[in-house]
Amino acid sequence: MYNSRIIGLGTYLPDNVITNDYLSKLMDTKDAWIQERTGIKERRWVKPGSDDTTSTMGLKAAKVAIERAGIDKDDIDFIIFATLSPDYYFPGPGVQVQKALGIKTVGALDVRNQCTGFLYALSVADQFIKTGMYKNILVIGSELHSHGLDKTTRGRGVSVIFGDGAGAAILSREEDNSRGILSTHLHSEGEHAEELTVLAPSMGAMRWVTDIIKENDPDDTSYMPYMNGPFVFKNAVVRFSEVIKEGLKANDLGIKDIDMLIPHQANLRISQFIQKKFGLSDDQVFNNIQKYGNTTAASVPIALTEAWELGKIKEGDTVVLAAFGSGFTWGSVVMKW
Ligand code: ACO
Repeated sequence: MYNSRIIGLGTYLPDNVITNDYLSKLMDTKDAWIQERTGIKERRWVKPGSDDTTSTMGLKAAKVAIERAGIDKDDIDFIIFATLSPDYYFPGPGVQVQKALGIKTVGALDVRNQCTGFLYALSVADQFIKTGMYKNILVIGSELHSHGLDKTTRGRGVSVIFGDGAGAAILSREEDNSRGILSTHLHSEGEHAEELTVLAPSMGAMRWVTDIIKENDPDDTSYMPYMNGPFVFKNAVVRFSEVIKEGLKANDLGIKDIDMLIPHQANLRISQFIQKKFGLSDDQVFNNIQKYGNTTAASVPIALTEAWELGKIKEGDTVVLAAFGSGFTWGSVVMKW
């Protein structure tokens, strides 16, 4: 059995900065409310008319990760793309990245696990590498939220939180079993699927795009994200704690062994709650939600890349990734850098 290790990381953030004050011109909200409840000061939203899409942002992050990994695009054996905001209803953006990179006929898998998407994607990649099936896997998390948000007062409980961006990693075969990803832990609880969801368009019992257009009902919010915020918050803090402990226990590690915790950037208060509960110092937890908001599947790879770029992650460090989101889904990844 091999191990897998991240050998390259990259991000792409659109340069259009959206401040809380700007949002307060679109809807009834205030900078003070947003900062106090979420920690977010600003986020990036793709400029209207820009060419950026979920797949092109993912591609840009991927190119940086490939270059930093020091591999050629043709060394990539498999692509995994996590997003809740694909360019097309189908096919998913994995094949679009494959085409844009000019990689011939390698498999491309799309992961739909929202805020936990990047962790699910890393876990799948880890299994493929551990069994020896693949050597280098491109793992991407990318989201373009801004086109799908209700930017009126009606949608303020959701729309102030989300930002656009992408992060990518190259996961590669590692012969030294004490390095790289030590374990991954994935969970879901479908009972709460409707607490954080976009219900339409849908091929199921709900409605398809043409029905929505035909009805043209101004009160219809089924195609906008719905979130039961306080309920999600309460579940998030519990599941984050559980899954971090699960990951540590599986590797005979304790909280004191964590050199760096990268939590999904859902809300600064959630991260601070976990930090306080575990007694971790500011140096042991990395947050950048203040600048980017919640970029869902992109948030963990963006935060991981930024922490690494800032020199906050060093060789031999125990790094823990943890996420919780729609589904509900949650997970953790424990690795030795
Ligand atoms: N500006 C001003 N007031 C607002 C805003 C806003 N943007 N949004 C809501 N309010 C109002 C509400 O209407 C409510 O008013 P009321 O008391 O008169 O009814 C009041 O503020 C309190 O609203 P709550 O929703 O109870 O506020 P809360 O403190 O719970 O914060 C938040 C809301 C930030 C959404 C929080 O619940 C949260 O972060 N939840 C978890 C998010 C999360 O972890 N998501 C998972 C990942 S995302 C994914 O998977 C896609």
